[in-house]
Amino acid sequence: MSESGEGIVDSAVTFGRLTEEIAREAGEMLLAKRPARPEVLVTKSSPTDVVTALDRASEELIRDRIKTVRPDDAILGEEGGATGEGRIRWIVDPIDGTVNFLYGVPEWAVSIAVEVDGEVIAGAVNVVPRGEVFTAVKGGGAWLAGERLSCNTGVPLDRALIATGFGYESGRREVQAEVLRHVLPRVRDIRRGGSAASDLCSVAAGRVDGYYERGPQYWDYGAGGLIAAEAGARVGGLEGRPANPGLLLCAAPGLFEELHDLLLPLDPERDA
Ligand code: IPD
Repeated sequence: MSESGEGIVDSAVTFGRLTEEIAREAGEMLLAKRPARPEVLVTKSSPTDVVTALDRASEELIRDRIKTVRPDDAILGEEGGATGEGRIRWIVDPIDGTVNFLYGVPEWAVSIAVEVDGEVIAGAVNVVPRGEVFTAVKGGGAWLAGERLSCNTGVPLDRALIATGFGYESGRREVQAEVLRHVLPRVRDIRRGGSAASDLCSVAAGRVDGYYERGPQYWDYGAGGLIAAEAGARVGGLEGRPANPGLLLCAAPGLFEELHDLLLPLDPERDA
């Protein structure tokens, strides 16, 4: 595979196929191996921020597959951190929605994206319990089961169904609850699915109108962000910043700005 600028762009479809294949394989392994009640292995930022043995097994499988086909690429994974360097980097969340995975709530996903020079060009989100694999290649649209996705458009804020999520630390949640107190009376309703990757795909599929959250990491939104954008949504941060863990916002143009203007004065990027 050529590593020149053009070669890489030409390869986006190949990367798209690879992200999908590997996300499917990790999903199959997780479904086959998930016990009735998975055990917590360790906790991270708080006692409720958990890692299971299968988070690690999933990331290991994904890393092995990447190394087999693309041994020189860099990888950033939720569990294994950053390895390697170079223009091409894989962004991996082996299980997004770990708490749902733990409890058997059928809303968790394997998320894999590929970026070139910092720009995501391909991604797949496998919402495993639902058997739904969302895919996108930059400039090639967002897809689910052979159907091209487009997000809902023309929905005003007061009719919008908005997904959101909460962090694991109580100081962050205090602010998130305060922000939500202002958002809830202004929208149709709120959904909290428990997987940021899946939430972004829900925007792409028109199952919600928009999504915002303080705190998701790049591995949570790398693939889902491209899928939502390729379905016509705007994905970004506050005040023109690109999507970032400070605040991630996603909705069709129009609703994006309304949601942005509602959130900005609430100072949603702070923690208590
Ligand atoms: C979490 C999920 C959740 C979101 C959190 C994320 P994890 O990822 O995406 O929906 O609200 O911000 O940390 O911990 O399950 O991989």
